[in-house]
Amino acid sequence: MSTESDMSMEVLVNSENPEEIFKNMQPFLNLMMYYECALMEIETKLHVLNKEFALQHKRNPFESIKSRLKKPMSIVDKMNKKGLEVTMENIQNNLTDIAGVRVICSFPEDIYVLSELLAKQDDIKVVNVKDYIRNPKPNGYRSLHLIVEVPIFLSNEKKIMNVEVQFRTIAMDFWASLDHKLKYKKDNLKHPEIIAQELKKCADMSAAMDYKMQEIRNMLE
Ligand code: GTP
Ligand code: MG
Repeated sequence: MSTESDMSMEVLVNSENPEEIFKNMQPFLNLMMYYECALMEIETKLHVLNKEFALQHKRNPFESIKSRLKKPMSIVDKMNKKGLEVTMENIQNNLTDIAGVRVICSFPEDIYVLSELLAKQDDIKVVNVKDYIRNPKPNGYRSLHLIVEVPIFLSNEKKIMNVEVQFRTIAMDFWASLDHKLKYKKDNLKHPEIIAQELKKCADMSAAMDYKMQEIRNMLE
């Protein structure tokens, strides 16, 4: 018997027959819909925390949230890199960043307050933590990454989905977007290493500023 998980996206990509394409796309579209629902669950949880916090402390722990679903071609690329056949089951079991939420905070302290409040909710399971704030990457990248499992409730079943939640300050996010540009332009630059060095200096300066501003905020409160 053929199941969702037997389905290969190869068929989807190679098929010339539109009906066949739509039939084969359905399991993939379902899977993406589940991830989209998981994004909504996480976003709502964060908005609820923000509301409550704002009422109690007269400030918002985060400035903004951005969510995204990984693009189909990026999913296929990543599966190929991992040497895995592109099946629905393999995607779910091996990729933890199909659904991604980025939470932008003003101050580093708020990142830990918010991530701990999210992590301790009883329907959330944290399956992986990468703390690039306490342990920045050598290039200067700072962010707190959690992979969480969140249930979504469909008409006839409950599904547990992975979501990658990245917490950053505004300054960390600003830095990361410039660093992202470097990654893409690297091959066309004469001296990418010089730019990388300058960028590392910016990372250190912006980290110092984050903590200084936090100190001032704490003095003001
Ligand atoms: P990916 O395969 O890229 O997802 O990395 P990973 O599985 O090793 O996970 P990690 O937690 O290290 O990184 C996940 C995501 O964080 C990346 O997809 C980027 O969005 C972001 N990220 C990690 N490192 C950097 C970096 O050095 N610069 C920038 N701009 N973003 C980064
Ligand atoms: Mg990723």
